[in-house]
Amino acid sequence: MLTLKQVSFHYGKDGPEILRDVDLSFGRGEFVAVTGRNGSGKTTITRLLTGLEKPTAGQVLYDGQDVTQEDAAARSRFIGYVFQQPDRQMFMSTVWEEVGFGPYQQGKRGAELDAVVDEAMKRADVYRFADAYPRTLSRGDQQRIAIASALAMHTEYIVLDEPTSGQDGREKKRLSALMAQMKDAGITVILVTHDMDIVAGECTRVVVIADHRVAFDGVPEKLFSEGRPEAWGLACPASVRLGRSLPGAPYCKDMAAFCEMYRKAREGQ
Ligand SMILES: Nc1ncnc2c1ncn2[C@@H]1O[C@H](COP(=O)(O)OP(=O)(O)OP(=O)(O)O)[C@@H](O)[C@H]1O
Ligand SMILES: [Mg+2]
Repeated sequence: MLTLKQVSFHYGKDGPEILRDVDLSFGRGEFVAVTGRNGSGKTTITRLLTGLEKPTAGQVLYDGQDVTQEDAAARSRFIGYVFQQPDRQMFMSTVWEEVGFGPYQQGKRGAELDAVVDEAMKRADVYRFADAYPRTLSRGDQQRIAIASALAMHTEYIVLDEPTSGQDGREKKRLSALMAQMKDAGITVILVTHDMDIVAGECTRVVVIADHRVAFDGVPEKLFSEGRPEAWGLACPASVRLGRSLPGAPYCKDMAAFCEMYRKAREGQ
């Protein structure tokens, strides 16, 4: 369990308040979306979880242990991070060295190092780039390299900050499949996103940040049926809107569910 306990935060000495008394926990194997308007503090929350920022007040707990003062390098033993612009986190001259950097720092060498790096690159589907220079690759490939780096550390939590924004449909599908695969392997996936199709279709839980606080925390179905997504600047996915337009229709988390429901309704007529 990874927890922000009564966390408040502002940048700099006396910058404007970003977060106030936030209580937020992430359990093992969840696929959680963190969403909200631009500037609401989503990236800040992930920077507090990974140790890139320290809370102004409150604590960060990992399995009950206080890790508030641990920096990002120390926390990399349990949490990995895929930046909004992943080229900013690539600094080695080959993909193999990039993925191997963390386990090397942990003291792995020789066959043991080869094994974790090779396995992580295969899982993230970047094995063919082993000798390539990371910064020349596409953003989607760089994201998968950053994921491979986290997998090579046997991470328990992984944060992805808006990985699908600006990506085409094929790249989105590949990334969604990889995130789902990590979740199925027991890794907690924390996804910062504005993409409500992914929230409804893939995530087990959604957290909305608004007015410096957690405005909503629950399953996606609840957000789109009982929450106030529009008030928080979130659009309802097309499948949910279409489902709602048919009287008595159930909640449709994606277009496949809507089509299936529609087919059954027609058959029953
Ligand atoms: N390094 C910084 N120094 C000062 N203020 C910052 C810094 N980084 C972010 N902020 C401010 O903190 C607030 C929250 O920013 P944050 O990046 O966490 O929001 P976000 O929800 O991730 O937004 P977006 O959807 O645009 O990515 C914003 O008002 C932003 O301008
Ligand atoms: Mg952000």
